Amino acid sequence: MKTKVLDKTQFEVAADILKHGGVVGIPTETVYGLAADALNGKAVEKIFKAKGRPMDNPLIVHVADFSDIEKFNLVSEVPENAKILAKAFWPGPLTIIMKRTDVIPPEVSAGLDTVAIRFPSHPIAQEIIRVAGTPLAAPSANLSGSPSPTTARHVLNDMDGKIDAVLDGGSCEVGVESTVITLAADVPRVLRPGGITVEELRDVLGEVEVDDAVIHQLAEGVTAASPGMKYKHYAPKANVLLLKGSDDAYISYVNSHSDDDVCALCCDEDLLLLKTKTVSLGRRNDYLTHARHLFDCLRRIDENKTIRTVYSRLPDVEGVGLAVYNRLIRAAGFEVIDLEKI
Ligand code: TXA
Ligand code: MG
Repeated sequence: MKTKVLDKTQFEVAADILKHGGVVGIPTETVYGLAADALNGKAVEKIFKAKGRPMDNPLIVHVADFSDIEKFNLVSEVPENAKILAKAFWPGPLTIIMKRTDVIPPEVSAGLDTVAIRFPSHPIAQEIIRVAGTPLAAPSANLSGSPSPTTARHVLNDMDGKIDAVLDGGSCEVGVESTVITLAADVPRVLRPGGITVEELRDVLGEVEVDDAVIHQLAEGVTAASPGMKYKHYAPKANVLLLKGSDDAYISYVNSHSDDDVCALCCDEDLLLLKTKTVSLGRRNDYLTHARHLFDCLRRIDENKTIRTVYSRLPDVEGVGLAVYNRLIRAAGFEVIDLEKI
């Protein structure tokens, strides 16, 4: 299959492909999504094939307005908390899990009795959903397990020849995927941290739990509340090692392990002090910028085929830092080197 590259004026072409059961890479404010008509099981199946995604991992359904949830009869009941969240954070990088109806094809819900819904803020994503006239199921547009794509070029690197088209809407603003919160539990619970922070959610909802799998590796045999959390994720081909310790300890550890096949994933402030290849996430403590650059940095490291080891700092878990932490700890297979203990 030849994958068409569309420019941002061609959202009607993208919508037309989607209406006819095709698969299109589309920009959102978080990462690029691999979209198909969410109400057409056959179309959704093509997403799983293109990504190599396990069929037990459900997809997010994207709408172009809060009222679409009722209009398309997607959920059995809209909880009061969903209205509060939508008012505060939609359109935007927040996905809300609610009890689904039978309108949701089994391919989308992967056998669960819930459905994840998001109203993205990206104007092109909104326009494509509106013109297609149907909600769109869309996971991140990467090959399963790889870093998520934040540019159309990233999508093409993974999907060229496997999907009908990709629409180039430039770089994604947030850079990490949406925050996923479930309202199907007694207390609202964050299953994946993202662009909307836990602190912001607590400000509007009061009590909000954070699922154990956000920070810790799931114990053998435990069922993941969010199936995506159990898979190895976001990993570049090089081995990522997370270092915990002071700025000085990080720099001296990396410098003493410097080699041709080593790269430091670092901050701008470290660049002149490190005696090895470097890729910077941005200024220290600027978590928003780190989130925006994270996946592009991991992909750039992969493009340099000689790099075998990546040394990164263990991120802070404050604000959007938690989302960066969640992605990096998975990229590192949960291995952390405590520099104070060596
Ligand atoms: O920002 C985003 O959320 C992007 C853009 C394209 O919207 N999408 C995205 O989708 O990241 P994906 O499929 O890569 O990640 C969705 C996550 C997975 O971990 C999946 O297991 C979880 O949400 N999920 C989806 N439906 C769920 C459900 N009903 N219950 C629990 N977890 C669910
Ligand atoms: Mg994904």
